[in-house]
Amino acid sequence: MAERETWTTRIGFILAAVGSAVGLGNIWRFPFSAAESGGGAFLIVYLIAILIVGIPALLAEFVIGRRANVDAIGAFRAIGKGNWRFIGAIGVLASFWTLSYYSVIGGWVFRYVIGSATGSALADPEAYFGAVSVGGSSVLTHVVFMMVTIGIVAFGIERGIELATKFMVPSIVVLLLGLAGYAFTLPDAAPGYDFLFDPDFAAITSNLAQIIPAATGQALFSLSVGFSVMITYASYLGKDDSLGADGLSIAVTNTFIGILAGMVVLPLLFAGGLSVGSGAAEGGGIGAVFVAIPIALGDFSSLIGHTLGIVFFFIVLIAALSSAISLLEAPVAYVVDEFDVPRMQATLGIGGAAFVLGVPSAWDTAWLGWFDGIGVALLLPTTVLFVVIFVGWIMGEDAIDEIKKGMANGSFGNIWLWSLRTFVLVAVVVVFLLNIHDLFF
Ligand code: PHE
Ligand code: NA
Repeated sequence: MAERETWTTRIGFILAAVGSAVGLGNIWRFPFSAAESGGGAFLIVYLIAILIVGIPALLAEFVIGRRANVDAIGAFRAIGKGNWRFIGAIGVLASFWTLSYYSVIGGWVFRYVIGSATGSALADPEAYFGAVSVGGSSVLTHVVFMMVTIGIVAFGIERGIELATKFMVPSIVVLLLGLAGYAFTLPDAAPGYDFLFDPDFAAITSNLAQIIPAATGQALFSLSVGFSVMITYASYLGKDDSLGADGLSIAVTNTFIGILAGMVVLPLLFAGGLSVGSGAAEGGGIGAVFVAIPIALGDFSSLIGHTLGIVFFFIVLIAALSSAISLLEAPVAYVVDEFDVPRMQATLGIGGAAFVLGVPSAWDTAWLGWFDGIGVALLLPTTVLFVVIFVGWIMGEDAIDEIKKGMANGSFGNIWLWSLRTFVLVAVVVVFLLNIHDLFF
């Protein structure tokens, strides 16, 4: 068997992980849920959740991956022995499952880049979304998106994922900064910023029991924790740099891009005369990005509206693509590492199977909602819960040993492990139980 690949540079690993983290969650879900549930106050809860739950859990996945240097299922088996491999299997299933419908949405985004260029997406946004999000058209764009994802992953870590994300992530940042700069010049920028940053503490305190788990779940999803993706990416680390420093830069960049997206989306919506609470901008529905933004863009001159649409949806497209490749890599690594299948065949087979699994979601958005519900509400918290238990108790001292590498501060490892065993565990259990409750009762 060929020698296992590694990232060529430390920044290559960081950019790939940022590419995974920055996705539809940042650009579509985050600005809307922040604005809807307390603005700046939600932002504060979310930032705390990233800091005290998201980052420790992310580091836990990194520690498992780098310790084992093998796919996620193999990693649990190698470190934990016995039935721990089943936990790895839930994680790998979660990424495969999520890829199936993530690709469907990615296909719509691709369609919207074209629709912005021709103008048809901006002419009658509701009708356009209704037409492209279902049936044959949606299956077709799902194929296209999945094929591009397969095309990148087939080239492997160095020449595929690392090379692609080295271009994608900086492009996202630069283009988003450009759009944010333009949005800043709009007369409606100020109310948009107010919505995002003005802390409405009353909205938070009256609803704390709902907002804390929501912000925690979103923090985990946003950092790509709970899908075995970060375990897999860390398994390709060749050198022992500080995982803490890497995890922190990944989380900071991910959060920064989320806030930046908010500084683009909210001024645009206000410029289009939409309030965030209006039906078209409902954060709960998928329509937020696909209907509200085009409605807002329709208010600009056609040249500016088309250009903004192309750039905006192009950003969302590469953000979705750099996440989709990580979702495909986790199951591909499993098949390659465990069964010695050539990468090209593994990528085609798993990508093809994920495509088939996504056909119902492409055909009918009700299925997409169902798949998303199971993935995010059930598979994600199950995996995170067991990752925390696994690293906190099964690895224990070994985990401290791994996280200490390349780190100057000797006590960080102890504090981190202690945090996993206490409040991270409690937070994840609460999220898990509340999700189960919402799903089944
Ligand atoms: N973090 C991505 C987002 O915010 C979602 C994702 C989860 C991507 C897991 C890959 C793996 O959209
Ligand atoms: Na994210």
